[in-house]
Amino acid sequence: MKYDPKKVKSRYDEIADEEDRQEKKPTLRTEIPREFIKKYIKKTDVVLDAGGGTGINAIMMAKKAKHVTLIDISTEIVNHAIKNVKNAKLSNKVDILEGDISNLKQFKNEQFSFVVCVGDAISYVLENRFKAMKELVRVAKKNSIMVIGCDSKYGFMRQYLKDGDLKEAISINKSHETYCGMGPRTHVYAIDEMKQLLEKNGCEVLEIASTPTITDTVDKKKFYEPKKWAKLKKLELEICTKPELLGIGNHLLFIAKKK
Ligand SMILES: C[S@@+](CC[C@H](N)C(=O)[O-])C[C@H]1O[C@@H](n2cnc3c(N)ncnc32)[C@H](O)[C@@H]1O
Repeated sequence: MKYDPKKVKSRYDEIADEEDRQEKKPTLRTEIPREFIKKYIKKTDVVLDAGGGTGINAIMMAKKAKHVTLIDISTEIVNHAIKNVKNAKLSNKVDILEGDISNLKQFKNEQFSFVVCVGDAISYVLENRFKAMKELVRVAKKNSIMVIGCDSKYGFMRQYLKDGDLKEAISINKSHETYCGMGPRTHVYAIDEMKQLLEKNGCEVLEIASTPTITDTVDKKKFYEPKKWAKLKKLELEICTKPELLGIGNHLLFIAKKK
């Protein structure tokens, strides 16, 4: 299917309230990437949060770094981000703009020192993923850390098979494409594919994680008691980079450095 930015925008406009709730809820899909961001971000960093959603990551990063610019394709998502950042009293440290990661013309070459694109915008741009990666790398300074999250091909196939949908699993295996839950059409990546995309654009991959791995299939409500949740997260952080588990969860996370 061809990438249609209007469709992605209108889908996220429709589900913006639910997205805002999801980003604030305990979920390892967002919390594991946040731990990797905390591991790499520096006080002096000027950050781009591309496909940044309702601003929860931007708020966390603004507390640690010099400045954050959030860009997102959806007007309603951007409105939530403005409200959340204002409530966190961080409007002076976070700029929020509407825009598409496959065309970052509003930014100069090497404007940022830390580039984050987690939560799968790089999957939703479908065939524009080559353009989008080029843009994300273009706006990063040399030696910048790039944190890129995408949907996982084998994780999605496992999920469809778990739900009994063999036809869709076979189709994903051939096409690398499917629908993403309540979200838009998505390009699902195998590990080598994303690694090559980063390397072709002059980045060195430092770490790869599945976010999360085996706990993607657990009934998370059983773990919501805070002490249990902390233990589950600690377990995930211990295992999420194990090569034998990569790709099993629905999401992949790549930490790379622009050479
Ligand atoms: C699943 S949410 C993730 C939000 C946040 N980054 C996180 O990890 O919690 C995906 C976000 O990407 C945005 N998005 C999707 N396609 C995009 C594109 N082409 N350019 C910019 N933002 C995009 C959506 O509007 C949505 O806010």
